[in-house]
Amino acid sequence: MELWVGTSNSGKMTEIKNFFMGTNVQVHSISELPVYSSPKETGDSFIANARIKAKALKSVKSGVWIMAEDSGLEVMGLNNMPGIHSARYAGEKAKDAENIAKLLKMMSLRSATHREAQFKCAMVVYDPEGNESVFEGLLKGTISRSPKGTSGFGYDPVFIPEGYDKTIAELAPIEKNKISHRVQALRQFKKSFL
Ligand code: IMP
Repeated sequence: MELWVGTSNSGKMTEIKNFFMGTNVQVHSISELPVYSSPKETGDSFIANARIKAKALKSVKSGVWIMAEDSGLEVMGLNNMPGIHSARYAGEKAKDAENIAKLLKMMSLRSATHREAQFKCAMVVYDPEGNESVFEGLLKGTISRSPKGTSGFGYDPVFIPEGYDKTIAELAPIEKNKISHRVQALRQFKKSFL
């Protein structure tokens, strides 16, 4: 099965490729296309943005499996921000470290006592005939006081999953791929179609 994934995020791509390793799924990404401009994520929910990305890729790649996901971090003490704005929390071209710095700053400014947080993932899949399926994943945890670890991407250095005493960035990639919000959605995809 040929699966095209609508993301330019190399961290996500690595996790998705690792997930399908050893299966009959050949994973391709938009970076393999000679010309492709990612659509603007103008939706007001994870699902809406995942659908925008999946539809954009479907319009240039027909007759193959298409997948796109939108994901982000919701922090209770920040009224569920940054949410769908996670990638650009500290600015349009913000680096992961800048987003983390802003998150910790906002939490200290608001004396946010509720450090409970969750990663959410919404995944939209189109089969080669164009039928849509939606899968979702959720990972609960807390936000650490300072960044720790070098593995993963995004907010991994400040997210401690429930039942753990380390940030995701301190876990081996294989450990993250057992529990992550993205893997939960991928498992449903696999169960439905493989
Ligand atoms: P998207 O590409 O618009 O879906 O942006 C997702 C953003 O949410 C990423 O850039 C990260 O900041 C954050 N994010 C999503 N999933 C993860 C994860 O597994 N670990 C850490 N941060 C994540």
